[in-house]
Amino acid sequence: MSQNESGISEVTVEVPMNIALVKYWGKRDEKLILPLNDSISLTVDKLTARTTIRMIQGVGKHTVEINDEKVELSSNKRYQTVFDEALRLQRKRKEDSNGNENRSVSHHFEVISTTNFPVAAGLASSAAGFAAIALAIQQLLNLDDIQANRLARIGSGSACRSMSGGLVHWKKGEKDDGSDCVAVKTKDDNWTDLYCVILVFNDGRKKVGSSEGMRWTRETSTLLKHRIEKVVPERIDLIKKAYATRNFEDLARVIMADSNQFHAVCLDTIPPIRYLNESSWQLIETVEKFNQPEIKAAYTFDAGPNACVIVQKKDVSKFINALIRDIQINTDDLETLPEEFRSIEYQKDDR
Ligand code: DP6
Repeated sequence: MSQNESGISEVTVEVPMNIALVKYWGKRDEKLILPLNDSISLTVDKLTARTTIRMIQGVGKHTVEINDEKVELSSNKRYQTVFDEALRLQRKRKEDSNGNENRSVSHHFEVISTTNFPVAAGLASSAAGFAAIALAIQQLLNLDDIQANRLARIGSGSACRSMSGGLVHWKKGEKDDGSDCVAVKTKDDNWTDLYCVILVFNDGRKKVGSSEGMRWTRETSTLLKHRIEKVVPERIDLIKKAYATRNFEDLARVIMADSNQFHAVCLDTIPPIRYLNESSWQLIETVEKFNQPEIKAAYTFDAGPNACVIVQKKDVSKFINALIRDIQINTDDLETLPEEFRSIEYQKDDR
């Protein structure tokens, strides 16, 4: 962190995105963004939002720029909520240490963020983006982890799972003020040879945003109630156990089942929400075929048609070959393919 003479403090952080293995869908409190169910995610280390925040003394408008484009804050109210909360915490800290002194000094924020993955592809970019803002503000204002977690969460629920790395469990909590609603890294060492192949199938159709979709589902779906009460708690335990014992087959089975149930819950909503498209279904079929006779890949889809496929390092090349063979994918399209796999010669007929 640096501060210059004109009262500008600046911090730069780099924060990864996360992909939910057991999905968050439905809020018990829309303002505080408190979820109806626990969720658990894997941190995708290579896909990051690099963010610089400047906290500037004096009256002025907050500004946010993502990948060189200005964000219209009047239609993105979540940023304002996060900045308001940050400034409230800052005032509180000053009052606690100085009595009423300095209470009137105002500040505003300037955020410049660059992601190394396409924001428009709907790849949980808001999660990495808000987590980066929260982490940077934590450093600027010397906040504790719970305050930072809350700051990320009120930006976007899933963002609070990008604050710590590895396998992260976001607990829904019970309290109305959200003080027990936190995301925590599980104690297990990171499973470092898990890779995430991301396929962008965005067909440009207008999709239902997460917040709106969650609200409709909560109001109309009967399957959601069953999912929250009976299914999710068991799946969180299964994921933790499979991850701790490095049991890929068990892990993959739960990941795919939960993605499928999340989309079933969306279809059980009135009006029904359809996020998957033809390409998504083709990918599911490819994975099903690739997983005979042994499960080596797990697909998962969020609120859109793009796929995230989790594979162990030893199977990445075989899986890419299956993609080339079955869905005529071009390896140049695989944004997330690490260097080491880009240099491999892939063949259409390699089985
Ligand atoms: C399907 O975190 O984007 O990706 O809290 O309203 O900002 P808000 O929603 P958001 O929802 C993510 C939903 C999901 C599943 C998940 O990431 O757990």
